[in-house]
Amino acid sequence: MDFTRQLLLWYQKNKRDLPWRNTKNPYYIWLSEIILQQTRIEQGLPYYLSFTKNFPSLKDLATANEDAVLKLWQGLGYYSRARNLHFTAKTIYFDLNNTFPNNYNNIIKLKGIGPYTAAAIASFAYKEPVAVVDGNVFRVLSRFFGISDDIAVTKTRTVFQNLANELISKKHPDLFNHAIMDFGATVCVPANPKCDQCVLNQNCYAFLKNEVGQLPVKNKKISVKNRFFNYLILKKDNKIALQQRTNKDIWQQLFELPLVETATDNEEELFLHLSNLYPNNNVKKVTANTIKHKLSHQQLYISFYEIEVTDFNTKHLVVPLNQLDLYAYPIVLWNFLKDFFKLEKN
Ligand code: ADE
Ligand code: SF4
Repeated sequence: MDFTRQLLLWYQKNKRDLPWRNTKNPYYIWLSEIILQQTRIEQGLPYYLSFTKNFPSLKDLATANEDAVLKLWQGLGYYSRARNLHFTAKTIYFDLNNTFPNNYNNIIKLKGIGPYTAAAIASFAYKEPVAVVDGNVFRVLSRFFGISDDIAVTKTRTVFQNLANELISKKHPDLFNHAIMDFGATVCVPANPKCDQCVLNQNCYAFLKNEVGQLPVKNKKISVKNRFFNYLILKKDNKIALQQRTNKDIWQQLFELPLVETATDNEEELFLHLSNLYPNNNVKKVTANTIKHKLSHQQLYISFYEIEVTDFNTKHLVVPLNQLDLYAYPIVLWNFLKDFFKLEKN
């Protein structure tokens, strides 16, 4: 028996009775979906009940003041959800003549409503055959059909959306969407899914191939950290200051110019900081463009600032320009120094 029929049969016997499932009112459905984003059902349910009690119609929400809406939302978190909810209620009430858009393409135009919520409203309120796709759906479909596309990649969503839109029951799109949500939440769960009791196990790719633990595929994005290196050319009588890097970071033991590392590329803040460090000296930026230097897990943004000093700090190594080549530097820095001081050697 096929996926869709089997799933619907499972849902008939196992459906969760939730208040927003007994209504076709798009306003209530929308409200429930916004509340349930990033929120468990047990936590969201009392909020759903208090919102529908305090604002029984879309008009009531649209004409409420924002403080009252935020007050009711208190404790749910992600308050932009509440602000968007209120904003969109006003849009529908005042601009759309109090008429909720009745199809996916128009629903998704509303602020705060993405593909998942638009599909939920369109299918539950209007029986439009468009599938909800979220983490639960990725998991169920990738396992059952053996799809190994990386779900961390944005365009993988389209693969699952297209498949789910083919699978969705054209007669009962609402029940299909409820079913796949519940199935993913209670049977085909992330860790230790209940494959032994699963009604789909005879045709499930992951179960038959023993790949349940490998699907869905979610490759961790290697996160690249941005760092802002501001190097100081502290200069006096054809000598500049150097320092040696420590063991704890990149470029261990190599020599470099005195460094001010900042969390952002805010130049104004940097100049303020430098003019505090060197109150009587003129600070001049000497590279028009920031040098971008990519390491495996770090993206460096490197700039250089020239400061004529009256004295050197004793913690720095003071080196004549014609002896700079005696030290080992990170290559990006050496290239700069050679160029900047027109050094001939190496
Ligand atoms: N999570 C998101 N939408 C839901 C819904 N309609 N029912 C149950 N859980 C959900
Ligand atoms: Fe999910 Fe296991 Fe059922 Fe396959 S058999 S659909 S992996 S619960």
